[in-house]
Amino acid sequence: MANTVNVAMVGQGFMGRSHSNAWGQVNRFFTPPIKAVMHTVCGQEFEDPKSFAERWGWQNASTDWETVVKGVNVGLVDVVTPNYMHAPVAKAALAAGKPCACEKPIAGTLAEAREMAELAKKTGLDSFVWFNYRRAPAVALAHQLVKDGFIGEVRHVRATYLQDWADESVPFAWRFKKELAGSGAHGDLNAHIIDMTRFVSGLEVAEITGAIAETFVKKRRIVDQDSGSGIQLTDEQMRYAKAGQGDAQFGEVTVDDTVLFIVRYNNGAIGSYEAARQATGNQNANGFEINGTKGTLKFNFEKMNTLTYYDATRPRALQGWTEIMCTHGGDHPYVANYWPDAHIIGYEHCFTSMAFDILLKLAGQTPTVPIPDFEDAYQTQRVLEAALVCAGRKAAVKMDEVK
Ligand SMILES: NC(=O)c1ccc[n+]([C@@H]2O[C@H](COP(=O)([O-])OP(=O)(O)OC[C@H]3O[C@@H](n4cnc5c(N)ncnc54)[C@H](O)[C@@H]3O)[C@@H](O)[C@H]2O)c1
Repeated sequence: MANTVNVAMVGQGFMGRSHSNAWGQVNRFFTPPIKAVMHTVCGQEFEDPKSFAERWGWQNASTDWETVVKGVNVGLVDVVTPNYMHAPVAKAALAAGKPCACEKPIAGTLAEAREMAELAKKTGLDSFVWFNYRRAPAVALAHQLVKDGFIGEVRHVRATYLQDWADESVPFAWRFKKELAGSGAHGDLNAHIIDMTRFVSGLEVAEITGAIAETFVKKRRIVDQDSGSGIQLTDEQMRYAKAGQGDAQFGEVTVDDTVLFIVRYNNGAIGSYEAARQATGNQNANGFEINGTKGTLKFNFEKMNTLTYYDATRPRALQGWTEIMCTHGGDHPYVANYWPDAHIIGYEHCFTSMAFDILLKLAGQTPTVPIPDFEDAYQTQRVLEAALVCAGRKAAVKMDEVK
C-alpha cells in the first residue's frame, strides 16, 4: 500500500483555511499510516488560488475542479464548497474512483444526500463528513461515558447551537439563498447538534412532534454577490453594508434565521433542538445537556476543553456538578498528540484529529472515535428534512415518512 495520499481540496474559504491547516498539521502531530500530501487546491479565479496554495502549502492550484477530481494522482477529494456544490463534486469524485470527504451538511437537499450515500455504498469507496465537533475530546468522552452506562438510560436531550453574527447589517451571501445553502441556521447549525447528539446519546429520532422556523431579516444588501461566506466579511464589505452606500440592491433571503424542534427518540426519550444566528451574545454556543437516570452530561463548545458531569449515584451529600478538564493524554482522546495536561486545544485541533482518522480509515484501520460517512450524514439530513416538513405542516412527522 502506498504510504502517501494526494489530497485535492475544492473550495478555499473559511473551511478551506481550516482544512488546509489540518492537512498541513496532521503528519506533524500524528504518525498516520498513510501521510497526507497537499496536492491541489481548487478555488475561483477572483480568489487567486495560486496565492492561496503558496500561503497554505498546496503543491498546485486550479480553477477547474471537474478535471482535478479525476486526476490520476489524486487519492482523496475534500469538498469545502457551498452546500449546493457538495453533491456534484462528491459524486464526480466517487464516480472517478476517489474516496471523498465532504463538509456538512452533507448536501443542500435530502435527495442529493441520498444519492451521495447510495453512490458511496455502490462504489464501496470510503466517504467522510466533517462533523468535526465529535473530535472535541470532551464530546468523544461524553460518547464513551454514555456507552459505558455512566448516566444510565437517557431521558432528555437538550441541544442548542446559537450564534449572533447575522443582524441586518450583514450583506447577502450564499448562506441566505435556498438554492445554494438548502436552509439557513438549520442546515448550518442544527446539522451539527443532530449529529453530535446522535453520536453521544446513541439514540435515533423516531418522530418530530413540533417545529417552528422563522426568518427575521427578509432582505439583505448585495455587496459582492456570492463571494464571502457571510461570516468572515472583509472590512470593506462591512463598512459598505453598514453605511448603506452604493446601488440599493437587495437580495431576498429564502432561508431561515432560526429553527426549533422537539423530538421523541427510539427509546422513548424526548429532546429539543434550537439553531439561531441572531441569539445576541452567543457567538458559537454549540452544546448539549443529556439527562440520564444516573447522571447528566453537559457540553458547550465555547468552553470546549471541559465536560460537565453530574453523578447521581454518589451519596446525596456529595452530589454536585463536576467540571472535567479533558486534556489528559491517554484518558482523553487525541490530546496526547498535542500538548501536556491543561495546555488547552482549540477549534482547529478537531479538524486535525479528523484528518488523522480519515488517514487511518484509508489505511483500513478503525478510528477510536467513530467517524461519520455519507450514510451516517444522510440519517442526520433526514432529521433536518423532517423538522422542516413538521414546521410547514404544523403537525408531527414520523421519521419513517422521510426517505
Ligand atoms: N464543520 C464546520 O465547523 C463548518 C464551519 C463553517 C462552514 N462549514 C461548511 O463548509 C462549507 C463551506 O463553507 P465556508 O464557510 O468555507 O464557505 P466560504 O464561502 O467561505 O467558502 C466556499 C468556497 O467554495 C468555493 N467555490 C464555490 N464555487 C466554486 C467552484 N465552482 N469551483 C471552486 N471553488 C468554488 C468558493 O470560491 C469558496 O472558496 C459549507 O458546506 C459549510 O456548511 C462547516
